[in-house]
Amino acid sequence: MTRTAAIIGGGVIGGGWAARFLLNGWDVRVFDPSPEAEATLAPVLDQARRALPGLTDVALPPEGTLSFHDTIADAVAGVNWVQESVPERLELKHKVLAEIQDTLDPEAVIGSSTSGFKPSELQQGAKDPTQILVTHPFNPVYLMPLVEVVPGDTHDPRAVAWAKEVLTGLGMFPLHVRKEIDAHIADRFLEAVWREALWLVKDGIATTEEIDEAIRMGFGIRWAQMGLFDTYRTAGGAAGMRHFLAQFGPALQWPWTKLMDVPEFTDELVDLIAGQSDAQSGHMTIPEMLAARDDNLVGLMRALKANDWGAGAVLNAHDGALRDVHGMEGLGDVSKPILTVKRTVPLDWTDYNGHMNEARYLQAFGDATDRFMALIGCDADYIATGGSYFTAETHIRHLDEALAGTLLEVRTQVLAGAGKKLHLFHEMWANDRLLATGEHFLLHVSLETRKPSEPAPQILATLERVAAAHAALPVPEGAGRAVGQRP
Ligand SMILES: NC(=O)c1ccc[n+]([C@@H]2O[C@H](COP(=O)([O-])OP(=O)(O)OC[C@H]3O[C@@H](n4cnc5c(N)ncnc54)[C@H](O)[C@@H]3O)[C@@H](O)[C@H]2O)c1
Repeated sequence: MTRTAAIIGGGVIGGGWAARFLLNGWDVRVFDPSPEAEATLAPVLDQARRALPGLTDVALPPEGTLSFHDTIADAVAGVNWVQESVPERLELKHKVLAEIQDTLDPEAVIGSSTSGFKPSELQQGAKDPTQILVTHPFNPVYLMPLVEVVPGDTHDPRAVAWAKEVLTGLGMFPLHVRKEIDAHIADRFLEAVWREALWLVKDGIATTEEIDEAIRMGFGIRWAQMGLFDTYRTAGGAAGMRHFLAQFGPALQWPWTKLMDVPEFTDELVDLIAGQSDAQSGHMTIPEMLAARDDNLVGLMRALKANDWGAGAVLNAHDGALRDVHGMEGLGDVSKPILTVKRTVPLDWTDYNGHMNEARYLQAFGDATDRFMALIGCDADYIATGGSYFTAETHIRHLDEALAGTLLEVRTQVLAGAGKKLHLFHEMWANDRLLATGEHFLLHVSLETRKPSEPAPQILATLERVAAAHAALPVPEGAGRAVGQRP
């Protein structure tokens, strides 16, 4: 399948979509009538290139090609996905959707980024209503996994299934909204919180800064990993949700909430909020705040990855798919060292010099060893049966610099693999630069006795096959070197 997307409207959201598609290997064709369109998109792409590649532990595919077009007809020619992200005005969306459908391939899908309109509203008067879905993303689109997919009543199930497949392939989490409603699910929720926050400021109860602290020091962190209901379930103690509802449900009758009343946006209220916001964060530029936002989002999501939880579990699934793209799903050609890591140095792996931190070399080589173990069959299922390899000795040589964003490849050679012993030599490359080598000596251990033991026969057989093939390779320069020895 060709993978080409048209981005119609390249502002904050369209720019984020363009980056998400491009960095996941799609070609992207943009139409935006603004003379500033290219200049607007460039910094969004730079931000995405800085943050996204390191979110995955497997390299993204080669970046697609970006082109700008003068008409919608030209932009949508030959594409299989159109993402509409023009301003939130229904008559404008209708005009743009009609123009798209004039030339678009009937098999292609049109996703609309609309935050508020229902698919049935967008589909009014459309040539083929089933081609139009809401695919509502979250800013920054290149990092946030959530996309609300709202097909509405008039839809083609095949198109919906394909749309979800495409979005998953972009590393996103398509949340299928089964019943259309104004503003979908997440924004309704955010609107309720926003309304209460405006009242708190207007009534002089809290400043914008105090409200933000109340979120980011507390429930914001909880929500990022468990959401609302699971958080309350755990708050109910061992008795869970029923107990929680019995205890706190009646409190909703109390006058805690202004419910649907909205404070009027008078000049005084706007001045109050904008003034407090300047006092809170006016010492930072918006680009500085965006960089901090991206650093924090990447760090939070990478922490969730380690626990294979929530947004982190989505990223791990994407890594698995990327391994297939790079042909890393099996041992491959064992007559050469084996590709065990192919990844970009993430933002949170660097020290104050901008260099990859020493500990991360060990992590990259540790990941290479884990991957090698998995490839010979010593994976989570085998480990659950009571056997595993433990690392007994490590020697790392640092030979050249690695910075955030550097694309790394680790290739692994088996120096010895027989009985309980496994001796691995990893080389870390960035194109033709050898950045580091890592030598690991491991012993197979029984997890029951915690003593060295023979691996299971099927593991040993695979290991011996690789070791025999690698015995024909030259011994790598630096193997077996003691600390401080130089050639
Ligand atoms: N900003 C958010 O946080 C957010 C989040 C999710 C979804 N959305 C939705 O995304 C859509 C776009 O919002 P945005 O924040 O990116 O707005 P924006 O103003 O940043 O970008 C809109 C872009 O559309 C272009 N445009 C105007 N008329 C056009 C036309 N006829 N054809 C093509 N392009 C045209 C503009 O030049 C501009 O670059 C809206 O539907 C909005 O509801 C916004």
